[in-house]
Parts: sequence; C-alpha cells; structure tokens
Amino acid sequence: MQVALDPRHTRVRSKLRILHNPRSPIEAEALHLNGELLELEKVTLDKVDLKRGAFHVSDTELVVHKVPDRPFTLELTTFVDPEANMALQGLYRSRGIYCTQCEAQGFRRITYFLDRPDVLARYTVRLEADIDEAPVLLSNGNLIERGVLDRGKRAYAVWKDPFPKPSYLFAMVGGDLAPIASTFKTMSGREVDLRIYVEHGKEARAHWAMDALKRAMRWDEQRFGREYDLDQFNIVAVNDFNMGAMENKGLNIFNDRLILASSETATDSVFEAIESVVAHEYFHNWTGNRITCRDWFQLCLKEGLTVYRDQEFSGDERSRTVQRIADVRQLKALQFPEDAGPLAHPVRPETYIEINNFYTSTVYEKSAELVRMIATILGREAFRAGMDLYFERHDGQAATVEDFVACFEQAGGRDLKQFMTWYKQAGTPHLVCAFRYDKVARAAVLQVDQVLPATPSDTKKKPLHIPMRIGLVGHNGHDLELRLDNGEVIRDGVLHITQRSQTYRFAGLPTRPVPSLLRGFSAPVNLSIDLPDRDLEFLLAADSDLFNRWQAANTYATRTLLQIVQALSAGKRSQRGSTYARALQANLLDRTLEPAYRAEMLKLPSQSDIARELAQNVDPALIHRAHRQLTRLLANTIGGTLESLYSEMDVGGGYSPDAASAGRRALRNAVLTVLSARGSAADIDRLAAHYSSATNMTDQAHALILLCQSPSAETERAVASFYEQWKSDHLVIDTWFAAQAQSPHNSTVARVLELTKHPLYAMTTPNKVRALIGTFALANPVQFNRPDGAGYELVADQVLALNAINPQVAARILGSFRSWRALEPGRRRLAKKALQKICRQPGLSRDVFEIVTKMLEG
Ligand code: PHE
Ligand code: ZN
Repeated sequence: MQVALDPRHTRVRSKLRILHNPRSPIEAEALHLNGELLELEKVTLDKVDLKRGAFHVSDTELVVHKVPDRPFTLELTTFVDPEANMALQGLYRSRGIYCTQCEAQGFRRITYFLDRPDVLARYTVRLEADIDEAPVLLSNGNLIERGVLDRGKRAYAVWKDPFPKPSYLFAMVGGDLAPIASTFKTMSGREVDLRIYVEHGKEARAHWAMDALKRAMRWDEQRFGREYDLDQFNIVAVNDFNMGAMENKGLNIFNDRLILASSETATDSVFEAIESVVAHEYFHNWTGNRITCRDWFQLCLKEGLTVYRDQEFSGDERSRTVQRIADVRQLKALQFPEDAGPLAHPVRPETYIEINNFYTSTVYEKSAELVRMIATILGREAFRAGMDLYFERHDGQAATVEDFVACFEQAGGRDLKQFMTWYKQAGTPHLVCAFRYDKVARAAVLQVDQVLPATPSDTKKKPLHIPMRIGLVGHNGHDLELRLDNGEVIRDGVLHITQRSQTYRFAGLPTRPVPSLLRGFSAPVNLSIDLPDRDLEFLLAADSDLFNRWQAANTYATRTLLQIVQALSAGKRSQRGSTYARALQANLLDRTLEPAYRAEMLKLPSQSDIARELAQNVDPALIHRAHRQLTRLLANTIGGTLESLYSEMDVGGGYSPDAASAGRRALRNAVLTVLSARGSAADIDRLAAHYSSATNMTDQAHALILLCQSPSAETERAVASFYEQWKSDHLVIDTWFAAQAQSPHNSTVARVLELTKHPLYAMTTPNKVRALIGTFALANPVQFNRPDGAGYELVADQVLALNAINPQVAARILGSFRSWRALEPGRRRLAKKALQKICRQPGLSRDVFEIVTKMLEG
C-alpha cells in the first residue's frame, strides 16, 4: 500500500497479489471486493487499465467482472476524506492526528479489499505526509526505511509486517507525536524496541502504561510461554476512539484515557484500567493476531480468551481475591442484565445485522467465564497443556470455537460436548439449591436444580455442564472433607452439575456444617439457597474462602435491601440492617485482611444490583431510598469504627499507584461514602475537607462525586473550582461532566442538557458522550428513570442526534434502555414511548436500528 496522507483527500494505492483459493469449490469469474465511502480513480489488472465496463462500483462493493484463474495483480487508486470521518471507522483524524480503526469492518473504508478475518495477507505500507503535520509515520510490523522528500517538506516511512494478518488488524498513524521509549529482552534474548506515542507535553503521563506493558510481556512468557515476535512494539494514544483500545499487529491504538495517567490527573481505577487494557491488547498478539477468528461469529474466541488472560494477569499482579470480586461485580452489573433482557444473545451469536453491536459484555466477559470454567474443569496443568496445544496447532490460522475446545478435550482427556452448549445458549442459568442435615445419619444432602430461563427467540434450553466449587464449613471454620455416601471423595471441591436436578449425599458429618457454594464464582450463574441469617453471619466471619466470605456479605446486604424496599413500598418504616452492620464490623477491623478487600466488603450492592434481583415492577426511586437508608444505618451503627478507619487509612506522603496504597485509599473512600450519607455537620465538613485537601485525583474525584450526590453550597463551590483547575485538560474534565451527570437531584436533566452545549463538550468525541450522556443513562438510575419520562427523552434525543454522527456510539448509549421491561408500569410506558420515537425516525443507522427493534420486540 502507498498512502499519501491529506486532511481532505488522502490517496491510497493498493497493489494486491491475488490467487483463486485452490480449496474453494466456487468457480467464480468475478471478484467482489468490499468498499465503502471511497472515491475510486483507477483499477488495473496485471498492469492493464480496466475500462468502465470491466468493473462495477456500488455503495458497498467493487466488482471486477472477469479475473484470471492464475495468480494476478490488481492495482487500485482510491481517495478518502479523513477530516469528514466522524464515525471513527477507517481513516480519521483525532486532534490533528491521522489514525485508523479497522475492526471489525473499517478497512473497507480505506481501500477495496476482501475485508473478512479469514483472508490473511502480508502487508508492506509506504506512508507519506506533510512533514509539519505528520513527522511521525507508523504502521504494522517493522520499520524498514524512512526519510524526507521535496527538500524536507514531506516525510515518508516504509513498514513491513512479516506476519500474514487479516485486514481488521491493519493500522496506520501519522502525526506530530512525542514518544517515550524503552526496551524489552524476550525469553529467547531478543531485544524489542518499545514506544508509546502521545501528545507533546504528555510524555510523563505514559510511564505507567510502559511499565504495565513490560510486566504483561514478562507475564505472558512465564504463564503461557508466549514470546513477542517483532522487533518493535508501538502504542499510540488518541482522544477520539469508539472503544477502549485496539490490538493492531505491532501498533496498538488506544483511547488516551487508557494510556495517560499521573497522580494528579488519574484515579487509582484509571491506573488499574490502564494496566489491564495495555495487557489485554498485548495478549491479543497471540490470542487474536497469531491465531485469529475464521469469521465474526467467532469473536468470543479471541475476546473471551484475552479477557480471561488479562483478568489472570491483574489477579497475579494485585490480589487474586479482590480481582475476582471486581470481575464478578462487573459481570453481574453488565452481563447479567444483558442476558436477562431483550438484547440477550449467545456468547457465539448466530445472527447479526451490525457486527459492531456484538462487542458486548456477553461476548467479552461471559465468554471469559467459559474459559475459566474450562480451566476449573480441567485443572491448572491440563488447562495449560490445552493452551499449548492450541498455540501449536492453530498458529497462523483463522480458527473457530470448536478448534479451541477440541484442544482442551484432547489435552485434558475430557468430553466437552455438553460444555459447548454454553457457547450456543443465551441466558443466565439459575441454580436452585437446598441443603438438609440429618443428625442421626450424620449426613448432609445438597440438592441442585438448574433452571434455564427463556430468552428472546429461544425458549427450549438444554441443561448445561456447570462446575460448582463448594466447601462444607465446620463449626471451627475449617473445611470438612467432601465424602459422598458412595465413598468417593471430591478432592478439588468441584461438583459437576450436568442434569436438571442432582442430589449429593455427604457422609461422615457429626455436626451440621454450613455450605459454602459456588466458591470463587466458579460458573456464571445465579445461585439461590435458603440459608438462615445466622449461616450468612457465620460464613461472613469464618469462611476460609475469602471470595465467598465477601459473597456472604453481599448476599446479606442484598437480602436486607430487598426487605427495606418491600417495607417502603408497603408504606412502612424498616429498621433492618443492624445485625448486618455488626457482622460486617469484625471484618472491617480485621487487620489480616487487605484494605482493598475490606473496601469491597463495605461497598453495598449497587442500586442496579437490587433492580436486577427484583427483576420486575422496578421502581428505581424506591431502591434509591432503601439504599440511602441502609447506608445511613451503617453509618449510625458502626460510625465509630468507620471514623477510626478513615484516619487509619490516610496514606500520607507521596502518591504511588501500587495495589497496596490504592487499597488503603479505596477503603478510606468507601468509608467516606458511608459517613457522608449520614449528613451531619461534621460529615459534611469531612467531605469538604477531603475535597480541598486532596493531593491526588482518586481522592479529589471521589469527593466531587459524593458532593454532587447531595447538593449543597459546598457542591457548587467544588464544581466551580474543579472546572477552573482542570478546564484545559481534555481528559480530567470528563470527570467534571460525569460527576454532575450522576447527581440524583431533580435539576440534573436540565443541567445535563445545558452541559451538552458547553464549549468543552463535543458530540463527536466518544469520551465526552460517555462521560455526560453515558454516565447519566447508566449511573444515575433515579434521574434517568424519572417518573415523568424526562430522563428517557433526553437520552433518546441524544441517541437520535448521535445516530447521524457516530452510529456505533449511538447504539451503545441506546443500550442503557436494555432493562426497560422490568420497570413498573408507569415508567415502562414512558420508556417505550421514547424507544418508539427512536424507531420511527427515518434514516436510522444499522447499528441503532438493530438495537431499537430488538429492544421493542424482545
Ligand atoms: N478488539 C478490541 C479489544 O478488545 C476492541 C475494539 C473493537 C476496538 C472494535 C475497536 C473497535 O481490545
Ligand atoms: Zn480484546
């Protein structure tokens, strides 16, 4: 490819060496190449100019009517307009930087091509541009030549990628960027040159990402034996980006929100997210790039596996238990509602209208859980052997889920036929458990029923193979041996649920143990078991499995919140919560537990967790009241403990993003959340002081968000001072938009609308849309779900405006309606009206059309 970059008129010359696939049964004379929004100038076939009648151009294709049977060369010259590209697919400009996004089907907006993941080709790319505009020119692979032209007025660079790759992994960048550089010595001793390119002046903020990259490279060698394969690895940060980041071969392109961090500008969660996304994109080099997907239905093959790998990396770098809790929270908050609503789809979908709509938490997070279950079923060593086999057998190929699972069947010597159903069947299984103890027989009986709820277009569900890790906890807190009455001992603690109903009899139990089920969340299911409160209190205090100790706290809190909701909806006052508060207290004070873990213990289930539990007739305002009430009750019951933790967890000194310091800040801020809900004068002062004395963004942003939760004079002061301090930082200011969009106060809709007209807001920048509209729709349940429908209208109007600019982002924002059918009738009617308004609009993009019609049908 030869690309001459120009803001409005970039020329792309592409020279394709093509031969008919000898294994294809199709004997076609015509060649169909994908292409969109291209201006075609010239086509030559084996150096002969093709006349008008020899080919045909439509909005989506270039068809060359007759191509030879022998290998031939096709040369194409096309033009594109990067400046006009607001959909951010193909070649576009972000704050003056030329960059590309090709996954899933963006390459066809750069040149005509067989734009599908099973067509693997070797690319050589020559880029040239005005030297002032783009002194830095990058593409995939290794740099083989660079220089200047036109007496120093133009720059050029030639890049060659030795690895065959599908077009979705193609990338190029041109701009006036500043690099930070480092090197990495691989396990076989090769030196790799690492570079991260950012805006001038932001270099110091890229060091954390570089550090994360090197740790990820080492980890993949040690854990999976995977070595990097090029001489160079480049990352570029751009501000306008539809997603988090992209794994283009040797040239990852990132949303700058996930590269740039300093203690003053980024929260601990941002540091953590940078570490995990840098690792995720790097890990794709093997799981996605070296082994790619045969077609887009197999998207989970690369995404689920790579998410599993980045979760494991983060767990190893930080705390495995805290990581698991965070991952499970996220799965339940995003994927479970998706799977329970009109947008439910299998991990491997069978149909789609727009593939961009399938970069979902089902394809990412649920499918990571499937990989995790395979690891649980096989055990660590056999799992690693299966991975090794996968890399060895499929390197260089475009593979399928079947190929992947077959490697584990072979390496683990296990039949995974029933397991495959997980890939095909949507919906979250429900495990209904009952536990009985028989003192005379010294035995316990655990009955497990799997209930498989219907999803749109699929009502008949097959039973799944569900690995359920369990423990039976004796009165002193020790795990008892799991001996079945037939003498078999379950040493790995894993029960294999394969039927609709199964009963296990455990023998040799002189006293009643407490069952600790689904340890480590060993399968992505809803679990219910009718344990008395005192069993939850016991597990909360004594379960040796720390994940399940947290789970017990969470279940207890959920149970309490549901009781409060019920009382409130019957017009009664509820005093529930003090036993829960006291059960929690012991853990909060336990210094053997990491602060990050204790912070997770203290965080109540979110309002949307409660909505999900209720599943129907949801009144978000009532949930919000219940949530506030329990938070206040915690503050009133264990306020003393919380206040002393607040002082104790003061990190002091300089900032370090490491997990231990971040954990202390997390606990301190979780305490602050609870204490601030009490709302006494001292609590307000503490919060105001937390804001004004903050020396890092973690504390400053947390305080700002809390201040916006209950408006006061302090709130307006903080909002104004935050703006003054950060108005020239295009990333930090997103926190300012988001904090205001989250306020449950009645003025928020008007405020958000006003902010859409703010000079620093831009509908063309997805980060801005996500910060303001996305936060409002997804993190402000009270105002989004206003009983007068104004929240729905606001979001629907924004979706319609975005539809014409960036359909991918519009469809994502529209996804915030996914649980509308679970609402109480009044709100349901208003949400439906908003959806119908969108549906009626002429000129809907494929993206929005698919989501809105499914939403109304499902
Ligand atoms: N493949 C990217 C990832 O998972 C996500 C992505 C998809 C980015 C589509 C851009 C467009 O890391
Ligand atoms: Zn990915």
